[in-house]
Amino acid sequence: MSERAAERRRSLHGEWTSRLGFILALAGSAVGLGNIWRFPYLAGENGGGAFVLLYLLFVFGIGLPIMMSEVLVGRRGRRNPVTTMRLLGEEETGKSAWRFVGGLGVVTGFLILSFYSVIAGWTVAYVFESASGAFRNAGAETVESIFQSISGNELATGAWHTLFMVVTIGVVVLGVEQGLERAVRFMMPLLIALLLVLLGYAMTSGSFIEGVVFLFEPRFDELTAEGALDALGQAFFSLSVGMGAVMMYGAYLSEKESIPRSCAWVVAMDTSVALLAGLVIFPIVFANGLDPAAGPGLVFQSLPLAFGQMAGGVVFAVLFFIVLMFAAWTSAISLMEPAVAYFMETRGWTRPKAALLVGVTIWLLGFLTVMSFGAWSDVTFWNGTWFDNIDYLSNNVFLPLGGLAIVVFAGWVMARNSTAEELDPSAGRGYRIWRWTARYVAPIAVALVLLNAVGIF
Ligand code: PHE
Repeated sequence: MSERAAERRRSLHGEWTSRLGFILALAGSAVGLGNIWRFPYLAGENGGGAFVLLYLLFVFGIGLPIMMSEVLVGRRGRRNPVTTMRLLGEEETGKSAWRFVGGLGVVTGFLILSFYSVIAGWTVAYVFESASGAFRNAGAETVESIFQSISGNELATGAWHTLFMVVTIGVVVLGVEQGLERAVRFMMPLLIALLLVLLGYAMTSGSFIEGVVFLFEPRFDELTAEGALDALGQAFFSLSVGMGAVMMYGAYLSEKESIPRSCAWVVAMDTSVALLAGLVIFPIVFANGLDPAAGPGLVFQSLPLAFGQMAGGVVFAVLFFIVLMFAAWTSAISLMEPAVAYFMETRGWTRPKAALLVGVTIWLLGFLTVMSFGAWSDVTFWNGTWFDNIDYLSNNVFLPLGGLAIVVFAGWVMARNSTAEELDPSAGRGYRIWRWTARYVAPIAVALVLLNAVGIF
């Protein structure tokens, strides 16, 4: 081990209390609106089966090796992504330019959280809407008009967005280790239990088979190059990889823990939750004659129908949207942490100062998303509204580029000894599989999908 690597052994900001703590925190980052809100609506827009199959291939063939690369880089660097990439880049090649990869990640985190918080705000609004009993026996039209009146009301969504940012900043001020593990330990099983209750309802909705077929029967003629890029972006987004969030959490991981095993767990958990959400939503969509390609409102227009019809629906709905809000919260924290650690470590800012300045910037930026679902919903350029563009740029462009750079760095630039040291070569086959996918499968696949989308290939 090099001296510099040895010097950094201890984490700057403390460590997770156990391997379970790390897995829980990483799962808390991964499982969020991406699984319940974004995956179903993208699958719906892109025709279902073929998109889902590609998504699964990307998750395991690209996302998993990149996640492992991020954790190993993060644990070795022990700093915010910018400094970590600079230090490791200097150590391995003598050049510091790799820091720009970290920088891109920090910027991407700002962009993603600016719209993420607005959608999370909707879930808060839905807690109250559910509690008021508005969904009881509601039909598709009522549910749709409730969604329009919430998402289109800038004052209300702006206020929920503000509230969500305040609680996110609050946790980041306290430091990531406190509370996060405990929150996830409690919330994750609850989320899965509630999804299982909904699954039970979906099975009796009369359109369960139709939903399953839509989700799993690959019809490749419905998949476009843009759809493939959507699947790639969603794989990155859902696993939280490509922007340094995972690298940051890796920086807090103790020496002793096995990276491959932790990552495999998180990926399995994240994928199960997404598929479960799809299995719940599409039967409800078909049973009620909704449009699977309805877009970002899909979850908010389908689940309330189920809650409105089932026994105890009000209680389940309130619980569900609370849990979803918590899941979004644990993801939002990880979106902010790289930027906050960056300003603390390089500018010497205190944690509260860094969290406040980063948080307020993101909060202000979020109002453009608020407006793009309201008064500016027909102001479009490039890919559509402000939200469409910021979503496309961050998830379909920046995350894949960031992930590509990270996996090339870990697979090609870092010496074999360095990565073996972190990934525990005693795992033998596990290490070889990682190295092979990190060097060949992941970079080639990402490059092909990107080139395909711009029409070069
Ligand atoms: N993975 C989170 C979700 O699915 C979103 C996220 C993306 C979090 C990138 C951190 C980094 O909701």
